[in-house]
Amino acid sequence: MSRLSDKVAIITGAGSGTGMGAAIARLFAREGARVVVTDVQARAAALAALAAELREAGAQAAPAVLDVTRESDWRAVVELALSAHGRIDILVNNAGSLGPQGGLEAIDSAELTRLLNVNVSSQFLGVTAVLPALERQGGGSIVNIGSIGSLVAFPNVNPGYAASKGAARMLSKALAVELARKKIRVNSVLPGFIATPMATNFTSDEALMQALAAAIPLGRPGQSEEIAHAALFLASDEAAYVTATELVVDGGYTAV
Ligand SMILES: NC(=O)c1ccc[n+]([C@@H]2O[C@H](COP(=O)([O-])OP(=O)(O)OC[C@H]3O[C@@H](n4cnc5c(N)ncnc54)[C@H](O)[C@@H]3O)[C@@H](O)[C@H]2O)c1
Repeated sequence: MSRLSDKVAIITGAGSGTGMGAAIARLFAREGARVVVTDVQARAAALAALAAELREAGAQAAPAVLDVTRESDWRAVVELALSAHGRIDILVNNAGSLGPQGGLEAIDSAELTRLLNVNVSSQFLGVTAVLPALERQGGGSIVNIGSIGSLVAFPNVNPGYAASKGAARMLSKALAVELARKKIRVNSVLPGFIATPMATNFTSDEALMQALAAAIPLGRPGQSEEIAHAALFLASDEAAYVTATELVVDGGYTAV
């Protein structure tokens, strides 16, 4: 039996090709989930291609444009999932933005607000949007893709990203405690350096990238699929007694 048989999952930020959202969608679909893959309008073509690929492989998959900072988009996607499948079991809040390269000088207050909206408020909007459906069904699982940037600071990462991921980590825990009695589990995956378009855009400084890779005990950046497997565990019934936790997937980086 597949690990997500008959479950319906909404996944945000799934349109970047080699990013974590697409990897999560592929793995969830392989494990029997019916998936709604979402991203911003600019990624609509990539989303449609991903959904077609999943359908060709035998899964049920639908693309939908969802800017995670827009409440009206959330409402539309929840309606789409409910009209197509009648239920929602899993929400993966994966969409995120790193913002500009550099330190304090790289951002102003408008950029800080944008990062907080994309990386934190989005989680709040997503959870509140799916909540009525999850309550009706008597439970569900929310997986938030955070960052080890919520645990430690990094050179060349603007402090707005760190602040937003730190806030998202605690929002996830607070929601988990609040929603536990409704049998809604809320957990985070905290990725380290993962080879995705976001990491490639992080810096053009080759020496900095090499120094960071050398500091990873497992000796390499992670792959999107390795984050997808962590998300799969937290989304599945195997994690029925797991809530308010953080699964750090960083090759050991934050342990040294
Ligand atoms: N790559 C890493 O090393 C790394 C490390 C730690 C955490 N993360 C986190 O993992 C998650 C996935 O990132 P990734 O590395 O796969 O990056 P990515 O750039 O490949 O994917 C991020 C996706 O989020 C989407 N997105 C951005 N703003 C959005 C918005 N307002 N509404 C909807 N979608 C939006 C983008 O269009 C993109 O498709 C992010 O939350 C990121 O912060 C990444």
